[in-house]
Amino acid sequence: MKNKLEEIARQSIDAIAAAANPEALESLRVKYLGKKGELSAVLKQLGTLSSEERPVIGQLANEIRARIEDTLAEKSAALQTALLERRLRDEALDVTIPGKEFAAGARHPLRIVWDECVDIFTGMGFSVAEGPEIELAEYNFTRLNTEEGHPARDRQDTFYFTDDDRVLLRTQTSPVQLHVMESTRPPIRIISPGRVYRKDEVDATHSPMFHQMEGLVVDRGITMGDLKGTLNTLVRRLYGDGAKTRFRPHHFPFTEPSCEVDVQCFECHGEGCRVCKGEGWIEVLGAGMVHPRVLSGCGIDPDEYSGFAFGVGLERLAMRRFNISDLRLLFENDIRFLSQFN
Ligand code: PHE
Repeated sequence: MKNKLEEIARQSIDAIAAAANPEALESLRVKYLGKKGELSAVLKQLGTLSSEERPVIGQLANEIRARIEDTLAEKSAALQTALLERRLRDEALDVTIPGKEFAAGARHPLRIVWDECVDIFTGMGFSVAEGPEIELAEYNFTRLNTEEGHPARDRQDTFYFTDDDRVLLRTQTSPVQLHVMESTRPPIRIISPGRVYRKDEVDATHSPMFHQMEGLVVDRGITMGDLKGTLNTLVRRLYGDGAKTRFRPHHFPFTEPSCEVDVQCFECHGEGCRVCKGEGWIEVLGAGMVHPRVLSGCGIDPDEYSGFAFGVGLERLAMRRFNISDLRLLFENDIRFLSQFN
């Protein structure tokens, strides 16, 4: 029996030394020290021994149990340490490695001006209405009092989709006026920023695609005074309180009377210089009182209601605002250019 015990001791200690992980260690503990383990199996036979042998073997068995327990504990500690070291190595974080740089985008100069206009007008109680870029000639022209034969409808000026010139890329945001007046009743106060298209050759001041912002107000008793007050507010918010405006008679088919609005050149204060090309004034938008025919065409009684409308070119605002001399820069997507407008 003594031999058997020593055999168990040797085997278990070898096996424990070879254990690769805590789970293996635990099954060795059960195998050797468990209730049904090998040591217990031997101890069960103590009763067969003589009374002299029994305490000797009993003591040896206890010693061996203690040795196996110590060995298990040591190995367990060693395995934990190894595990921890591996984790520390695997999860090592080198805080000195330079970080990855994320390039933060910037708003496009046109978007800045667009947002600014939306801010100014929503502050005055306007809401934003959108309209389609692919439009019927009926909306882009006819119902805006621009009959067949008007030069703006020329194939040289407009992108048509169909041979009968019925469908086109809108040349202005003004057709949005019609969509709004068809779907809502006065009082109406909307702006409508968006893309428009004209058959223009690309140069420093022209692009076949550009942006406008339409404005429309319709209510009882709206006068040219409301138009002037609103547009003066726009100009002062954009260019500062000291900005001077000039309302010049003009012609648009869908407004009567019509005007163009100029801002006094802030470079020369009206003297005439390179910026304003000697004019002293810079044109910023077109406007007018909504033509009675346009109102009645949308089922709004021009005897009861009146309104004003305006259209602003957003590229022009952006170019003036940021001193950009060539319109093409706005559409070339050169990051060196675009990143300057943060
Ligand atoms: N749609 C006109 C243009 O493109 C501008 C405008 C809008 C004029 C509304 C008067 C009223 O030139």
